[in-house]
Order: sequence, then C-alpha cells, then structure tokens
Amino acid sequence: PASTARLPHGGLAVGGVSLAEVAQRFDTPVYVLDEGEVRGRCRTYRDALPDAEVLYAAKAFLSRAMARWVREEGLGLDVCSAGELELAVTSGFPPERIVLHGNAKSPRDIACALRLGVGRIVIDGTSEIARIAAAVGPEGRQRVLVRVVPGVDAGGHEKIRTGTEGQKFGLSAVDGSAQEAIARILGQPRLELAGLHCHIGSQITTVDPYLVALGRMVELMAAVHEAHGVVLPELDLGGGHGIAYRPGEPALDLTALARELRAALAGRCAAAGLPVPRLTVEPGRAIAGPAGVALYRVLSVKHSGGRVFVAVDGGMSDNPRPALYGVRYAPRLVGRRSAAGSCTATVVGRHCEAGDVLAADAELPADVHPGDLLAVPVAGAYQLSMASGYNMVGRPPVVAVHEGTARVLVRRETLEDFRSRDLGG
Ligand code: LLP
Repeated sequence: PASTARLPHGGLAVGGVSLAEVAQRFDTPVYVLDEGEVRGRCRTYRDALPDAEVLYAAKAFLSRAMARWVREEGLGLDVCSAGELELAVTSGFPPERIVLHGNAKSPRDIACALRLGVGRIVIDGTSEIARIAAAVGPEGRQRVLVRVVPGVDAGGHEKIRTGTEGQKFGLSAVDGSAQEAIARILGQPRLELAGLHCHIGSQITTVDPYLVALGRMVELMAAVHEAHGVVLPELDLGGGHGIAYRPGEPALDLTALARELRAALAGRCAAAGLPVPRLTVEPGRAIAGPAGVALYRVLSVKHSGGRVFVAVDGGMSDNPRPALYGVRYAPRLVGRRSAAGSCTATVVGRHCEAGDVLAADAELPADVHPGDLLAVPVAGAYQLSMASGYNMVGRPPVVAVHEGTARVLVRRETLEDFRSRDLGG
C-alpha cells in the first residue's frame, strides 16, 4: 500500500493532497494521517489472519476518527487506560471488542472497564485478581487473560523489550507465578479465564521470536489443561510488528508471520493434544506508523563545528522517539524542487536541549533554507501519543487526508490551553 510509504522516494502528496497545501492551510508543525493507508493496513491484517482477532493497539495513536476507521475495518482495540477506553467507547467502539491492558491498573481503570463492559481484562500481576474480582460485583463475571512472560529475547531497543524476566510486565512461567495466578483465577467465580497473553517487545522485524513465544505459550496451555482439565480458548501473542522508518530498512513480513503462526499453532496444539485456540494479535505501530507524516517548517540553518544544523518548528515535544530510543528518521524537503546537490544535515527541533535531534544524518538539498518545508515520513505511531507540553510549544494538530480532501481530526494545542489549565493559585 499506499502513498506515505512511497513518500521517501519522491511523492509530495499524501491521500491525494499536496503536503505544501496542508502546511499552508493548517500551519506547521502538523501531523498528516492518511485514512486510506490506515484502512488499507487494517485490511491487510484482516486478510492475512482471517481467523484471528486483530486488536489495534491504541497507544500508538488514538483519536475518535482513528477508532472509527479501525472499527469499520473489523478490528478490535487494545487500550491501557480509562482514558483510551472512554474515548473509544464514546466514539462508538463496541466495548466487548476492547481488551484492557496495564501493569498498574488504577481503581478508575478497573471501574471504567467493568462499567463499560470491556471484552477482556489482561491480568498482569497476582494482586489484581482479587481487586478485579471484588469490583465485578455479585452478579457479574468478567473475562480475563493472563499476561505471561514467555522468556523470549526478541532483540530491539532495551526500553521496549518485554519478553524476558527482569522487566515490569507479566507473570513468569519459570518461577511459577503465572501458574499460581491461573489457579487463583480458575478458583474465582467472578472471573472467567479466556486464555493467555504475551507481548515480547516492539519493532521486531523477524518471525522467529514469535514462534518461540508461541511454543512456550502452548506448553503452558497444555500444562493448564493437565493440571486443571481446562481448555483455554484464546492465545493472544501481542503486537510488536516492526516497520521500516527509512528506505531500505527491514520490516516484519506479515504474510510470513501469519503463515508461520498458523502452521506452528496447529502443529504445537496437535502435538499437545489441545484444540487450536483462537489467535489474537495486537499491532499498533504497523497500522498507524506508515500512515502518518510530520510536516515542519525550517526556522534556521546554521553551520557549526563542521555540521549543518537545520532547525524546525517542532521537535522532541511532538516526537520524543529519537531522544528516547535513538530512532533514525529520513526527513525530506517538500514543497519546492531544488537543483542543488545534497548535503548531510542534522535536523534539530526548537527545544532547549542539545539532545533535541530529529535526524542526525538527513540527506537534504544543500540550499535548504528557512521557510522550507520538511516532511518526516512514518510518523503516525508513538509520536503524538507520546507528545508533551515541553517548553509550552503546544502539540501539533492531526489532519486526515483522504481522496483529495483534508480535515482536522485533532486541533492544535494553543497557548490558551496552557493558560487555562494553570489556575494561578
Ligand atoms: N500489545 C501490548 C501489550 C503492548 O504493550 C504494545 C506496545 C503493543 C501491543 C503494540 O506494539 P506495536 O505493535 O505498536 O509495536 N513507545 C515505543 C513503543 C512502545 C510499545 C509499548 N507497547 C516506541 O515509540 O517505539
């Protein structure tokens, strides 16, 4: 699919709308989201995994329109707070197709999930079992999954690695805490154990770690069957499907993943004498990331210490990812053609710290100058959802582009927004 994926190689329009026009109409910085690309990516998942449940991981980016597109394309939703949950449900998302995650669910998260009737709550720690059961009330019954640490090191950045012990998520099957939690849940009349969950990390580009995780999870399902005589109907393997941020980078091959997961699940279950559970996956980045483009205006160009610094009107407050994970983007000039040769520039933001670098080695025309427009492709995931109020710059708006038209989904955060939250006391 579609337009934004091609942007690094020459496209200047997304969703049939010129990026220069978006910048002119809506000002910069601005995030552009290609509705067709989001929908197309949802459909690719549905087609690759027709029997599985596909939950879009809302943490990557959520707005009311995004929730609607995802729902219309037949996906469910993974949320991890009352905030994400409320936004989704009030925009018409069926609560039974929502799964609530979180290693530290607040009483408000749990109450909200039960009040709205979420499909499943993922138990991430033993102490949650009694808390959730007590909140369910004497008449109700809540379906839950147990998040297991499968002991799989899927590589990737240390801050988003979750498949092994020694990080905060999930219950270990090695020290027996997963098995103990499962036994407790099975003894809780207010809870129904729907299956097991694991999430081995994020931005994973190979299939193998998923197959290892799957094997460990089926082993545990077999152990549960043997110990309790219970067949668990669902296996949720989480998200983490990697994408290319720059041309030429590897991405997870979804077709291969789907094919190999299906085959491995069938084989492992047959060997363990278990019926094949329904598979669930939770992609976030792979759906939202490639559908977004961040657009910035160049504010200054400076030659210093042998480097060219190109400073734009946004930065780490709208995209903390380079600073947090050392991610490398490939910004490019849009809105005009340049006959100049290229230069390697350091694209920096406008924030008050030296680490506010959006791209350390961007290839830009040597005549890049203030007023130019830069587009950063693959900007749809974990940028705005992790944006901050740093330096009171304000978070950019989100503009949806589709079939030649553009509309604002989320408005720009204004100085008035900052002022009005400050009660002056
Ligand atoms: N399911 C669970 C339980 C998760 O914790 C996550 C991501 C996902 C699904 C979706 O993972 P995805 O398919 O989007 O990789 N802020 C980081 C990523 C953190 C991911 C956290 N959990 C980044 O900007 O790269």
